[in-house]
Amino acid sequence: MSSTKAIVVEEVYKVYRSGTNVTWALRGVSLSVDRGSFVSIMGPSGSGKTTLLNIMGLLDRPTRGRVYIDGVDTLRLSDRELAEFRNRKIGFVFQTFNLVNRLTVLENIELPLIARGLAREERRKLAVDALLKAGGDVSWLSKRPNQLSGGQQQRVAIARAIVGSPTIVLADEPTGNLDTASARVVIKTFIELNKLGQTIVMITHNPEVANCSHMIYLIRDGRLVGTMDPSPEKCLINQ
Ligand SMILES: Nc1ncnc2c1ncn2[C@@H]1O[C@H](COP(=O)(O)OP(=O)(O)O)[C@@H](O)[C@H]1O
Ligand SMILES: [Mg+2]
Repeated sequence: MSSTKAIVVEEVYKVYRSGTNVTWALRGVSLSVDRGSFVSIMGPSGSGKTTLLNIMGLLDRPTRGRVYIDGVDTLRLSDRELAEFRNRKIGFVFQTFNLVNRLTVLENIELPLIARGLAREERRKLAVDALLKAGGDVSWLSKRPNQLSGGQQQRVAIARAIVGSPTIVLADEPTGNLDTASARVVIKTFIELNKLGQTIVMITHNPEVANCSHMIYLIRDGRLVGTMDPSPEKCLINQ
């Protein structure tokens, strides 16, 4: 089964209705993501990027179409099975970090492990490993997220995303709120994780960030309109 794709999206449509308003956020998107690849998605604001990522990440169900993760037809799963499957297979990184400020950094990173019934010491060990892999520092563990800089918070969020060894990391404009130096650290971390075999799908507006990935998907008006080969020499970390 090693040839199974990490993600296959087939003819996916998504319609949002509110009152008399109908928005076709996705209009028949098909794409696949190989295991171990690092792809980015670019497109204008409102083109459906977040909707597509949320559907690939099983946070939202398509109106029509299919989504396979690791060969599993996810539309066949019940809501409960879906939640458990998502917890094991997918890690998320968001533009605004989405950390919980009333919890410590350690507790934030451990969150995805809570449902797995691991002993406290085991959770802590996995959390520390993940934080180090994400380029973080153990001195942050007892702090609250809001005591850290944006770049540091994003490294904590990446640690939380990878702590459960997910098949796929999905990142929605992960450098969108960061200064260039912090963005560089975050992108370096993604490149390192990808070299270790982590599949990554990242939305970005920044061509210098997209150029660090292996392949760029272009989306417009809810449709995939093309692909672009990145120019590695124009990747942010080489600037
Ligand atoms: N929950 C929602 N309810 C209604 N419309 C939505 C919702 N989420 C997104 N949309 C609409 O769907 C379209 C695509 O949005 P989105 O996927 O967020 O685009 P992008 O991430 O590319 O900016 C936009 O027109 C947006 O207004
Ligand atoms: Mg978006």
